[in-house]
Amino acid sequence: FAADVRAGLTKPNQKELLSKYLYDDVGSALFEVISHLPEYGLTRADERLLRRYAGDIVERLAGPVAVAELGSGSGKKTRQILEALCLRQKTRYYPIEISPTALAMCQRELSDIDCISIVGFEREYLDGLLEVAAQRRSGQHLLVLFLGSTIGNFDRMAGLKFLNQVRRILQPGDSLLLGTDLVKSSSQLLAAYADELGVTAAFNLNLLARINRELDANFDLSRFEHVAKINYESRSVEMHLRSTSRQIVDIPVANVAVEFLEGETIWTESSHKYSPDEVVQMARTAGFRCDVQWIDDEWPFAENLLIAE
Ligand code: AVJ
Repeated sequence: FAADVRAGLTKPNQKELLSKYLYDDVGSALFEVISHLPEYGLTRADERLLRRYAGDIVERLAGPVAVAELGSGSGKKTRQILEALCLRQKTRYYPIEISPTALAMCQRELSDIDCISIVGFEREYLDGLLEVAAQRRSGQHLLVLFLGSTIGNFDRMAGLKFLNQVRRILQPGDSLLLGTDLVKSSSQLLAAYADELGVTAAFNLNLLARINRELDANFDLSRFEHVAKINYESRSVEMHLRSTSRQIVDIPVANVAVEFLEGETIWTESSHKYSPDEVVQMARTAGFRCDVQWIDDEWPFAENLLIAE
């Protein structure tokens, strides 16, 4: 963490912090609140599609399967899929999660489904998936879940590269259920990423509070403000933290002092938005065939069932 903070805040032009660090216990809890805000329809769209189509999704999978999830979070969304699978077979579920708190919550949340055995991995996505693949029994297929449009945190090139890496760990006939947030109006996006209540602002500012807590820094949170802006070129929403004055911040554990000019920003997250066709193309380039795409009718969001070729 210290090394990444130092590297990101000493970049010569745009200062930057990696978005994965937004999700400590406080940040994960704040994201959970965001997902209940009326302006932020993404999570509810994802949940609606899974509730409505879990049966169809499961029906399209061939033979016995084990389920692996990249970034399980609380596990609430996954229940639909696991319960649908239960009607047909006993199932092993492997949540892969870097947050030990989220992993524990997910194991508790889903422990009542009796035909499911849960084996969690506290790992980065690809490391965890490699371990899961190593445990696969012969003749068993994998269903990998990558929900919530987490792929949107990657830029398009990195997203494609990630899908490629996942594909290389899988075997033909394995599947990937990929949730992707779709392109929508700028006003809808700005409302979703700069909500009235200020929860997204708190979520973003928590990253500075985390650096204070863990790296003994002295960020004055009242001198930074949350900014959400649309990047039309990359079709993404960016979150930044803007310094409202010239200031110097000390980060002892990262062994650095950082100067901020008035108006200068730290780029903390990007959320890329896709068109339905683009997802199909991207999947194809990465070695998957898009079997079905379900699109929510209230909030443009797609659940894509991709089959490894
Ligand atoms: C969890 C990455 C899907 O990009 O919409 C919500 C995170 N950031 N509000 C997203 C987020 C600001 C979210 N993802």
